Amino acid sequence: MKYPLVIGILAFAFSLKAQDDQIKLNQKQQNYYEYEDDFLSPAFHQSRRDSLRALMPEGTAAVLFSAPERNRSNDVYYEYHQDPNFYYLTGLREPNSMLVLFKEPIYFQGQETTEMVFVQERNPSSEIWNGRRLGVDGAIKRLEIQTVLANTTFKNLALPFDSLKRVYFQKPYAMEEQDIEESASLKGLFHHFEQKVDSFSPIAETHLGMMMAKLRQVKTEEELSLLRKAINITCEAQNELMRKITPEMAEYETEAIIEYVFKRNGAEYPGFPSIQGSGENSCILHYTSNRRPLKNGGLLVSDVGAEYHAYTADVTRTIPPDGKFSKEERKVYNLVLEAQKAGIEAAKVGNSFWAPHQAARKVIAEGLVKLGITEKESAVGDYFMHGTSHYLGLDVHDAGMYMPLEAGNVITVEPGIYIAEGSDCDAKWWNIGVRIEDDILIREEGPENLSAASPRTIAEIEALMEEE
Ligand code: GLY
Ligand code: MN
Ligand code: MN
Repeated sequence: MKYPLVIGILAFAFSLKAQDDQIKLNQKQQNYYEYEDDFLSPAFHQSRRDSLRALMPEGTAAVLFSAPERNRSNDVYYEYHQDPNFYYLTGLREPNSMLVLFKEPIYFQGQETTEMVFVQERNPSSEIWNGRRLGVDGAIKRLEIQTVLANTTFKNLALPFDSLKRVYFQKPYAMEEQDIEESASLKGLFHHFEQKVDSFSPIAETHLGMMMAKLRQVKTEEELSLLRKAINITCEAQNELMRKITPEMAEYETEAIIEYVFKRNGAEYPGFPSIQGSGENSCILHYTSNRRPLKNGGLLVSDVGAEYHAYTADVTRTIPPDGKFSKEERKVYNLVLEAQKAGIEAAKVGNSFWAPHQAARKVIAEGLVKLGITEKESAVGDYFMHGTSHYLGLDVHDAGMYMPLEAGNVITVEPGIYIAEGSDCDAKWWNIGVRIEDDILIREEGPENLSAASPRTIAEIEALMEEE
């Protein structure tokens, strides 16, 4: 009996040794940040922190938290996705972290600093299961933030919040499963923040979102190059779908074509669940179950967006799976296209954010009457029940102030007509749903359609669908 025990102990010792070697090996390996060199630069994030501090009134601080890790079921987690505001200001893609910005410099460890980030430490045994972390040293090197500390140190750190007029903060969401006592967890960080700044005290202020929206709604060239990449990948996916779709497919197969092109081109994931709604499902605005066979007939609304290095596209094309629009589909499609053209034309610097919507809605209201689908223009809302535009960026429905359009805004222009079965019109129109969505950069010279690489006219779509 002794022998196996000794062997067992030896084996255990060897396995520890092997783990140690493994750990050393991992530390020599490149950090995941070094595989690709086209992420936003530390200088970009620095400039965003400086711009936020410029918007903050005197005597204030801003505190932001990383996104929580989200459980799917049992021990399976959703893929981690950083909080967009936190990412915009730091570039950090890891959980259990916190950023503190001070308007005026504070003295910390004998030096002046205006910014501190608290990150999760490296942990060799968890790195074996879950992959490498930046840790404090990696974050100093990669993020170039003035002060980087382990998240475990925040609890006992004396920071001068009490002397401030206001502390803006963004409360983390969905922290239920975490241990409040665990100082390295997001919930622990927020708990210790609340110990330092009572969130009901007059200095605590949650309206950080407005300042972030003001910043995020104007894209820099660096952001635009990532957004252009996400949009180009998405156009390529829509075009590939037009070439490959057949009526024998089900909606999930068209989704597979789209997402294959996303992944093959380096997009991390779709920026939102891919909408592949055919026939009656083309009239469900945010349909995502994608199980219907296309042979049951009707148009396919394909509303998708690749997310590349945190920036997401949002492009919709509506196509006939058999390659030919029917007479009624053609009429509805061309009306939506005409409305979209009017909407894009109205996407000009200085115009109200709502100008594209008003222009598109007017065209659709008049057109529905002309086609005999409605009797009065005022019934337009029965068939076009959503807005025409939203900002686009780190979020598909991105942060922004919905104020007059300015250069550097990126918005969608996406009118649609949805005639559900049983609608108050001739049954020949039923189950036709059409949406056409493009991503528009607002420029001094006029609107630039960033998603023009995917065709929109019936002639162009039918021609592409004939290609092998
Ligand atoms: N894909 C959602 C939207 O178009 O807003
Ligand atoms: Mn969309
Ligand atoms: Mn959209």
